[in-house]
Amino acid sequence: MSFEKTFRTVIEPFIIKSIEPIRMTTRAEREKVLQKADYNLFKINSQDVLIDLLTDSGTGAMSSEQWAAIMRGDESYAGSQSFQRFEKSIKDIFGFKHIIPTHQGRAAERILFSVMCKNGDVVPNNIHFDTTRANVEFQGAVAEDLVIIEGHNTQSYFPFKGNMDVKKLKKLIQTVGRDKIPLCMLTITNNSGGGQPVSMENIKAVKNVLIEFDIPLYFDAARFAENAYFIKLREKEYASHSVKSIVQEMMSYADGCTMSAKKDGMVNIGGFLCTNDDLLAKQEKDLLILTEGFPTYGGLAGRDLDAIAVGLQEVLNEDYLRYRIAEAQYLGEHLAKIGYPIVQPPGGHAVYIDAKAMLPHLKPLEYPGQSLSVELYLAGGIRTVEIGSVMFGKVDQTTGEETPAEMELVRLALPRRTHTQSHIDYVIEVARDVFEKRQELTGYKITEQPRYLRHFTANFEPKK
Ligand code: F0G
Repeated sequence: MSFEKTFRTVIEPFIIKSIEPIRMTTRAEREKVLQKADYNLFKINSQDVLIDLLTDSGTGAMSSEQWAAIMRGDESYAGSQSFQRFEKSIKDIFGFKHIIPTHQGRAAERILFSVMCKNGDVVPNNIHFDTTRANVEFQGAVAEDLVIIEGHNTQSYFPFKGNMDVKKLKKLIQTVGRDKIPLCMLTITNNSGGGQPVSMENIKAVKNVLIEFDIPLYFDAARFAENAYFIKLREKEYASHSVKSIVQEMMSYADGCTMSAKKDGMVNIGGFLCTNDDLLAKQEKDLLILTEGFPTYGGLAGRDLDAIAVGLQEVLNEDYLRYRIAEAQYLGEHLAKIGYPIVQPPGGHAVYIDAKAMLPHLKPLEYPGQSLSVELYLAGGIRTVEIGSVMFGKVDQTTGEETPAEMELVRLALPRRTHTQSHIDYVIEVARDVFEKRQELTGYKITEQPRYLRHFTANFEPKK
């Protein structure tokens, strides 16, 4: 019997060893900054942002052990010890045969789809992340999103809203034919659908369908540890399993993965591609040499590989994951209490606001998500990101006609180990102010845009 009393408060399981100042600005200053940036928050300089919730990608804090690992970095061009430590750490957790370093996740995607896809192919996923979709489409292939129906219902409390609809998967394979589907992906957690996890049961069910048709399964593993922790919390038979063993089981059903180490790798830059297939690995490494670098560094410095090797082990720490999930939950619960319609339950890395439900006076093509994210910046210097029709709206290249996205979300992403609770309390206070004036928020129009990934560079103007 344990005499230790456990307390309910979930604390940051670390202390602050090094700090970076952030700068307050006035509303008048922020108005000018916005005009200069054509109302695109991606074009704002970081010194003009107080709390940056644009992304959890590469924006987190590294641990003292990771900084120590940086000093150990071996910068040999070929066969560095850093690569050996990187490979060993990934094999220990993920278990794949071939580990190919890349400078970030999308480089792994580009190599994977270049090697596996051809014009006219179809790639199913629960929901493709934007760079994943763009890389599939760049090969002339079609990216199909097959998330379960609950994944589109922001108010459903279904515990695994990232799951793939297995019936739809089977139907797709039967309709287009197995030969048109070179691989199937599962994004864990499902970022574009609210950071929602995929259950082990669903992974197994998807795998069973794929075995029947001999189609390989790949994970987009960016937030694999958060997904595994949700499995531990929400899938009864895994309650007493370690997160590491859950990850190992998840990975055992896959033939490979792409990984953005900027998320659950706990680093500022890096990624990798894994496969169990010898022939594919050879083709992938050939392409890697062409665009990223030699296979033992792949576009990264030796020190980056070392930081990833340590980060991947640290992310499995269950005190860390408990705090990580609690932070998103705290923010989500408070926003919901104010009246914000949020994607329920909050995901692992972010809280998503349903801007369509919050601003019913704006049409989807007036970009309610853009309107809300601009207002959060104006009101309190908080930078968020629109994940709606700006990011996923489809523009017909001949007619110029635009189809809105399924959902109009604003994401408040939480960088790992970066903000304290009072930062989050400030965000909540600003959000309360914005909520009270929600009826006054105006729509936006796009005045200039590129063909691919327009949200990064498009120009906007508020509608009068
Ligand atoms: N897959 C997922 C699920 C992602 O969330 C991201 C990046 C990538 C792939 C691409 O990885 O950035 O290293 O090239 N997501 C970031 C975000 C950008 O803000 O959610 P990358």
